[in-house]
Amino acid sequence: MTVNIIYTSDGSKTLYSEKHKEHYASINGAFTEAIHIFINLGLKKFENQNLNILEIGYGSGLNAILTWYENQKLNNKIYYHGIDIEPIDLKTAKALNHFTLLENNIKFNSNFYEKWGEKVIISKKFQLFKEKVELEKVNLSKNYNLIYFDAFSPKSQPELWTTEIFQKLFKNMTANSYLVTYSSKGIVKQALRQAGFEVKRFQGPLGKRHIICANKL
Ligand SMILES: C[S@@+](CC[C@H](N)C(=O)[O-])C[C@H]1O[C@@H](n2cnc3c(N)ncnc32)[C@H](O)[C@@H]1O
Repeated sequence: MTVNIIYTSDGSKTLYSEKHKEHYASINGAFTEAIHIFINLGLKKFENQNLNILEIGYGSGLNAILTWYENQKLNNKIYYHGIDIEPIDLKTAKALNHFTLLENNIKFNSNFYEKWGEKVIISKKFQLFKEKVELEKVNLSKNYNLIYFDAFSPKSQPELWTTEIFQKLFKNMTANSYLVTYSSKGIVKQALRQAGFEVKRFQGPLGKRHIICANKL
């Protein structure tokens, strides 16, 4: 796997995948994008609850780290299941060091990058289970309240943004649950609706594009 570290416009870093010819997050601001979509539109819907979160495309761990950090105020008890077929190595994770984005000088925590296939207790309110598996093959044994759908784009990975895949996720979600994602392409909205979701479009980060919050009622 060849990935290069690059700086984005808000000073946060992300990766560029040579294989997919895409960045892991927006070059207009990786941190800003993650907060806007996954935290503000997703996580903040929940407070003081038991929450199962699934992330499709764990990648650089940015969403997981921000979820753990922001949840300290929201006080949910989170089980976070992140999946990825090509986890990044520890050296790359240390070079990225997303922890420098947080207040209070939080130290790098390698548990966000090591111990794949094991449940890790990050804190009293945050358990992390990272699984090296393809979305197409993953066995989902929980029902999720919130899904972060953060695969590469529909252009690069059309096989992941399909009705069949969204149906599989829909089946493994609780009532009143949400799937949030950065792509608002017509085929994505259509596939989500066909899978049973109510789909809403929101303003994207930095005014650039729309994003999607799909609701399982
Ligand atoms: C856009 S990046 C994810 C960015 C990530 N959420 C972050 O915070 O850095 C997409 C990720 O999806 C992973 N991926 C690609 N195909 C996949 C598949 N079929 N199943 C699971 N993960 C996949 C890639 O390895 C990559 O890490």
